Amino acid sequence: MVTAPGPVGRPLVGSLPDLAPPLTRMQTILGWTRRYGEVVRVRLGSRVNYVLTSPTAIKHVLLDNAKNYPKSPAYDTLKALLGDGLLTASGQTWLTNRRMIQPYFHQKYIAGLLPTMVACTETLLADWQGRAARGEVVDVSAQMMALALRVVSKTLLSADVTGTEAGVGEALATGLELANARIFAPFQIPEWLPTPNNRRFVHARGVLDGVVLGIIRARRATPGQGDLLDMLLAARDEETGDGLSDHQVRDEVMTIFLAGHETTATALTWTLYLLSRHPDVARKLRAEVAAVLGDRVPTLEDLGKLRYTTMVLEEAMRLYPPIYVIQRQALADDVVDGFTIKAGELVTANMFATHRNPKYWENPEGFDPERFAPENSADRPKFAYLPFGGGGRVCIGNNFAMMEGKVLLAMICRAFHVDALPGQPVVPWPVVTLRVKDGLQATLRAI
Ligand code: HEM
Repeated sequence: MVTAPGPVGRPLVGSLPDLAPPLTRMQTILGWTRRYGEVVRVRLGSRVNYVLTSPTAIKHVLLDNAKNYPKSPAYDTLKALLGDGLLTASGQTWLTNRRMIQPYFHQKYIAGLLPTMVACTETLLADWQGRAARGEVVDVSAQMMALALRVVSKTLLSADVTGTEAGVGEALATGLELANARIFAPFQIPEWLPTPNNRRFVHARGVLDGVVLGIIRARRATPGQGDLLDMLLAARDEETGDGLSDHQVRDEVMTIFLAGHETTATALTWTLYLLSRHPDVARKLRAEVAAVLGDRVPTLEDLGKLRYTTMVLEEAMRLYPPIYVIQRQALADDVVDGFTIKAGELVTANMFATHRNPKYWENPEGFDPERFAPENSADRPKFAYLPFGGGGRVCIGNNFAMMEGKVLLAMICRAFHVDALPGQPVVPWPVVTLRVKDGLQATLRAI
């Protein structure tokens, strides 16, 4: 038996106090990986957790021996918000629903969603003309959240959420903040206790439920849009003939609604921030967009040609992966990269640190999209880069998100310079997803 090295931690709580503050969490983890290596043993209260930054270890957990590693109890915390949707469900419920939902994310289906993505972006750009002319300072994070929310609602649920974006954004931020606090709490306070935080959480969930249940109710009254929501409402189990209960539909829609916009918006916010700090990269991206698109709206064929734009997105998600960790719990004893993992212990693929592992990334802190050129990435192990996860639980919205990211980024950069205000601290804020703390303030310059 070989025990992985790691920090000793304090009596009882272990390293929980070092990891709990979001502001310093990422640097703490990077420090551990530099000091102890690619498998780091960390005690968090009564639990043992291994921080993995080695592609072989991550591949072992997510793919090769995935059956030994179901999702960890941290996902139960998210269940309070998402219910038993695809992201948080397990076992047969997950498998049945994944098979049912998967076809709606095939290339041939999402290709048909392109015009809607373009139309949503055009609405944003029209609004930005006025803001640019007035010299307004905008919060890019909030703008991207609202845009991505409109895209996912219109494309997959045929719903217009105009007017609800600010309320949804606030409720989601509260929900994630409190879910994060629960994940790192030394002990759990039951949700039924009327503490101030529990009340805030229940209120936030109520706001989100109001929007999502409203969309479902309206659709039951007028079905026939031919989208993901119609399919969920009409789905029948092959053996029993049963449909999804109201509860199940709510959970799947809530999951798509939240997982389908928050991550993409976060990726775009970080990308626009990095572009504003790297004008040479921004120039190259604009040159590509001008050459491929000119003044036209993007077609599917164009998207394949936006190679540099794709590399920019990939590099931004390397530095700031919107989902920065994936956690699993071992069912039985195992050996990972030569280290013993005991049944019940947690393993965490830390994408933030893996994407900065100097073994696989030269100058890991630098922003350099060229590293994703085919000739520069051929030798890199697949699991050294995993913004969308890997194995059977890989992100179902991967292709959707890349298509959306390319369309939005190309159209935004063709029309505007987004100038991040100088002097503002732009700090990663890891609360379930890796947001920009307090948002990104910027001015807009029309091109
Ligand atoms: C840049 C954007 C996105 C990123 C970085 C991202 C990242 C991820 C990651 C890392 C996972 C795996 C979690 C785990 O293994 O524990 C995941 C799962 C998932 N994502 Fe995404 N995602 C993005 C966009 C989307 C979109 C657009 C949708 C839907 C419209 C979506 C829906 C889901 C769902 C439903 C799951 C659970 C899949 C399952 O377990 O079967 N995601 N995502």
